[in-house]
Amino acid sequence: MKKYGVLGTGDVARVIASKLVELGNEVMMGSRSAANEKATAWARENGERASNGTFADAAAFGEVVFNCVKGVHALEALGLAGADNLRGKILVDQSNPYVYRDGHISLDPAYSGDTCLGEEVQRFLPETKVVKTLNFIGSVMMTNPGELAEAPTAFYCGNDAGAKEAVKGILNAFGWTDTFDMGDISMSRYTEMLGAFWVPLFGQLGTMHWGFRLVTDLK
Ligand SMILES: NC(=O)c1ccc[n+]([C@@H]2O[C@H](COP(=O)([O-])OP(=O)(O)OC[C@H]3O[C@@H](n4cnc5c(N)ncnc54)[C@H](OP(=O)(O)O)[C@@H]3O)[C@@H](O)[C@H]2O)c1
Repeated sequence: MKKYGVLGTGDVARVIASKLVELGNEVMMGSRSAANEKATAWARENGERASNGTFADAAAFGEVVFNCVKGVHALEALGLAGADNLRGKILVDQSNPYVYRDGHISLDPAYSGDTCLGEEVQRFLPETKVVKTLNFIGSVMMTNPGELAEAPTAFYCGNDAGAKEAVKGILNAFGWTDTFDMGDISMSRYTEMLGAFWVPLFGQLGTMHWGFRLVTDLK
């Protein structure tokens, strides 16, 4: 059993936090408010190993912490979580810096071009081991990839080899049998773009029950 902090109260946070509890861990969900209704309801529904508090409470509680907040506000949320509470820990970053306008999705200019959100999160928390993953797949599939007939691919990246290995273990526990190490945290540029590409496909398919698969075998 391990202690996890999950920053966020949206669909992603609830899916991740519930799976971590199901796997036998203790989980604290964090929010801007210790009395957040969604987090309080989630904790009530998930038994004695589930709790909720502020972003700082959850960051301090977790040995490993998931960042599942709205991407354009991620640095604000991580500032509230506190660099001291995250020092030396693994931060699994699932956030995307998207802006929705005129029926289209784009990357917030502050997190595109010569940088991306994953890099800025790592720059903001230099003593935290940031690993970016599961930001290119719908929330319902994040802990349920085995539902598909063929294994989708879980891309991940980060600067610390040990942290990436640990996160690969978490992905395996979530059911991901096909994982792919993209390299250092700057590779988040591409998985954040892949997550944007996911959105129009979701619009066309009308379902979240699918994923990307990397195919390399020749006939
Ligand atoms: N939904 C998906 O299927 C999916 C798939 C892949 C990646 N993602 C990424 O995963 C992240 C979570 O997505 P989501 O749909 O579950 O939730 P979301 O609605 O994008 O984010 C909700 C969370 O963001 C926090 N937040 C909003 N504004 C804030 C601010 N000004 N300062 C600090 N925190 C703020 C909220 O805090 P409070 O709890 O205090 O309200 C809440 O916990 C996003 O970055 C999204 O791009 C989502």
